[in-house]
Amino acid sequence: MSRFFYPLVDNPYRKKDIKKAIGVLKSFKITSGIKTINFENSFKKKLKVNNALMVNSGSSANLLALQCLINPYRKKRLKKGDEILIPSLCWSTSLWPIIQSGLKPKFVDVEKHTLNIDLKDLKSKITKKTRGILIVHVLGNSTNMSELIRIKKKHNLYLIEDTCESLGTKFRNKYLGSFGEFSSFSFYSSHQISSGEGGMICCKNQEDFEILKALRAHGWSRGLKNEQKISRKNKHLDKRFIFYNSGFNLRSTDIAASIGLSQFKDLDKFIKIRNLNRRKIINELNKSKVKKKIDIIKENNGVKASWFGIPIVLSNKINKKLFIKKIEKNGVETRPIISGNFLNQPSIKKYNLKTNSKMKNADYINDYGFFIGLPTKPISSLIIKKLVRAFEQSV
Ligand SMILES: Cc1ncc(COP(=O)(O)O)c(C=O)c1O
Repeated sequence: MSRFFYPLVDNPYRKKDIKKAIGVLKSFKITSGIKTINFENSFKKKLKVNNALMVNSGSSANLLALQCLINPYRKKRLKKGDEILIPSLCWSTSLWPIIQSGLKPKFVDVEKHTLNIDLKDLKSKITKKTRGILIVHVLGNSTNMSELIRIKKKHNLYLIEDTCESLGTKFRNKYLGSFGEFSSFSFYSSHQISSGEGGMICCKNQEDFEILKALRAHGWSRGLKNEQKISRKNKHLDKRFIFYNSGFNLRSTDIAASIGLSQFKDLDKFIKIRNLNRRKIINELNKSKVKKKIDIIKENNGVKASWFGIPIVLSNKINKKLFIKKIEKNGVETRPIISGNFLNQPSIKKYNLKTNSKMKNADYINDYGFFIGLPTKPISSLIIKKLVRAFEQSV
């Protein structure tokens, strides 16, 4: 039994999801196959993206996007030391693929009221060496995408959208993940939908898609559009085993794909229930005495958010450590917003990535921000009452 009456994640799997997984097990066709292709096709259709490829995690999706940008098969590719802008409020594997691909991250501060990248700071950090922006859509919210696209076009930059926390969010009626050259998604168990572990990489152009397919599976020519042409050019080789590119093995399984697709079909339903739960919780918190002591993050202008948690920033008169200790003791599970200001992590020091540039807002969110869960099943008024009481007893 959990010590939390209000955990971060309730069990995300329904009986029907598990049945789909059992069906795959019974078919003995477990590795990436037809279920994966079905999931990719549904994903592509709903999000209106040109190409989608399932991988084993959102981290792998980010890695593939960056590796694709430096791949020798790409006509225009990035070079060692080229700069990529990234918000300092990011996840570990939003950042590391930049470094693992020989590129240079340049950190940008975020906005306190949206948690997303600060476009003013972003503009001030663009130099001759800047080649791309990796934005993180934080916890279902987003920056002003129209303005971001304007900046991207003006400076001729690549855009990679880390959408691992924001599947289903729309900016002015267009899904996040459909704006950039690349976008990544995660189906880890706490997110909008879950396949246990799993992710999706989407891209705009066909040339990139062919590179991504090869990189996902050993650099193999199998399944590429020009597979036959490659084999004709390499008659000395067994045509089934031609390694056309460098590669990883980042494929998922049809078990994960079948669970992912089953959940994906209900994405809109989950969003609706979560929004309803969120509204009820916020209404009650706003009626209580904690109202003046907390700032509940709202959706940005133009954003129709798909939340999986409720991000909250405390007033700076409250000691966060003490508050977290009390509220968790009162049965409410919490966690930091992403991982706080990532520049505070020891790995940053080890890799000499420290910057002198101030990250005032990321630090504030680091010091006063946290989030609580948001269940996909309707929440009872009794639980909401208990939740509000836990807040009141902890501030
Ligand atoms: C912003 C962001 N990017 C990437 C990831 C990595 O996703 P995964 O856990 O599927 O590797 C996460 C994980 O939660 C995340 O929050």
